[in-house]
Amino acid sequence: MATGINRNLASYGDTEFSQYMRRAFLASAGYDREDCARPVVGIVNTSSDYNTCHREMPQMVEAVKRGVLEAGGLPMVFPTISLHEINTYPTTMLYRNLAAMDTEEMIRAQPMDAVVLLGGCDKTVPAQVMAAISANIPAICEVAGPMITGYWRGQRLGACTDCRRYWARYRAGELNKREIQEVEESLCFTGGTCMVMGTASTMACVVEALGLMLPGGATAPHASGQRLKHCVATGRRAVEMIREELRPSDIVTPEAITNAITVLMALSGSTNAIVHLLAIARRAGISLTLDDFDTVARRVPVLVDCKPAGAGYTEDLHHAGGVPVLLKALESLLNLDTVGVSGLPLGNLLADVESPGDWQTTIRTLDAPLSGPGALAVLRGSLAPDGAVIKAAAASSALCRHCGPAVVFDSPEDVALRIDDPTLGITPDHVLVLRNAGPVAAGMPEAGALPIPKYLAARGVRDMVRVSDCRMSGTAYGTVVLHCSPEAAVGGPLGLVRDGDMIALDVEQRRIDLLVDAAELARRRAAFTPPALPQRGWRRLYAQHVQQAHLGCDMDFL
Ligand code: FES
Repeated sequence: MATGINRNLASYGDTEFSQYMRRAFLASAGYDREDCARPVVGIVNTSSDYNTCHREMPQMVEAVKRGVLEAGGLPMVFPTISLHEINTYPTTMLYRNLAAMDTEEMIRAQPMDAVVLLGGCDKTVPAQVMAAISANIPAICEVAGPMITGYWRGQRLGACTDCRRYWARYRAGELNKREIQEVEESLCFTGGTCMVMGTASTMACVVEALGLMLPGGATAPHASGQRLKHCVATGRRAVEMIREELRPSDIVTPEAITNAITVLMALSGSTNAIVHLLAIARRAGISLTLDDFDTVARRVPVLVDCKPAGAGYTEDLHHAGGVPVLLKALESLLNLDTVGVSGLPLGNLLADVESPGDWQTTIRTLDAPLSGPGALAVLRGSLAPDGAVIKAAAASSALCRHCGPAVVFDSPEDVALRIDDPTLGITPDHVLVLRNAGPVAAGMPEAGALPIPKYLAARGVRDMVRVSDCRMSGTAYGTVVLHCSPEAAVGGPLGLVRDGDMIALDVEQRRIDLLVDAAELARRRAAFTPPALPQRGWRRLYAQHVQQAHLGCDMDFL
């Protein structure tokens, strides 16, 4: 089989001519025959002026290149789509699969023996992992790492749990315009990814636990020498992995996926990780279901004290030892035979790692956890026959068993238009329902944590039961039922709810139910008309082929 720059030749019907042409064009960039004889490591660069989370990535790329060269490889940097959560309309989730396809196809199309995937912001990492699994050449992840925290008037701040907390206080009239502007200028203190246990930090930790990143890589801050040293080590290791023929198919096993879910629960991580892990597992041919998450959640307590479920930040987790120390704390619950990109069984790696030290409080132990099992819970019931999820650790315990009348919003735009309208007469007991925001209808935006109506916020109401077919940011909090499947747009029961219908939530019993009798629901179903699909381009292809949330929202042809 061809290797190095002779892999994936342009097709001219003459192999030697293709090789000669390739060397000729590489010579124009200064590569000689000695360079061309080296193993090639592709480096995926997701730098973009739009992606502030990847601000220092050009430096990271240089560090990875140094590592590759030191180990005798030829580094070749190439760009792919870069997705930034805040700078992408209507939601990056609409483009995760496009990024995965872009990355996979460029790995398949260009000459490389291994690939280093530089990602960070929420959807970039799962997209890259999905791509790497499908392309199945030696692959290793490196993430941007978290921002360093900022301060406002003596208060420590981090994106984006504090973004939401202060915005809620501003809506409630507790902060004035000048104060919220000062907060805005302090929230994102450096480049890097959101520095609470949102989706970016969660996925970074989950991917390290899965074995696709060298130890310690998930949490080193973006603008740190530790991050750059990790990049160099990653570059070196990529070359070694070529010689060892260590591929994603050797690493992403059912046991490794279970370890990753164990870490997700111990982190009280983002609900988005459930969707991404389902897609990742399915790419690897592993039949993972929502119920598997609930099974693990029931036996794993929360060990990490990070916002939004706790008080700390991702840099605190790093200073406490990061994922290696967390894995040590979870050792008795893990499969220790899994082998990741280091090439060593997890048990061997953990032999040299110390248990959580008593000089820190961010990583707890199984004997003294931050809170009990069940950080994330999978719900089923007449409102979500194929499942829904809730981050129970970030919900109000008083609302985890609740029955109240529905107030229905037909789209995120409808929420923005009407949520503060006092004529709706919303009370704290109401259940706020958002539909037509699922994968097919809207690309599944992070609109599930609907704002508390201003007039209730001003009275001190901070949480209400909210139910939707979309997602919420991993940095958000509240009693928020998400990912109701099937979504309203494909005929899910959420599309049949009317204002005033009673909805019952019982997290302990894992139920979410619409209390309307079957005959009435059948009448409503007969009158249901699905919304029109987008007419052209990627959005049409996406709407036609995206799978539901309980299957991971991958395209049905991938
Ligand atoms: Fe990029 Fe939060 S916006 S990680």
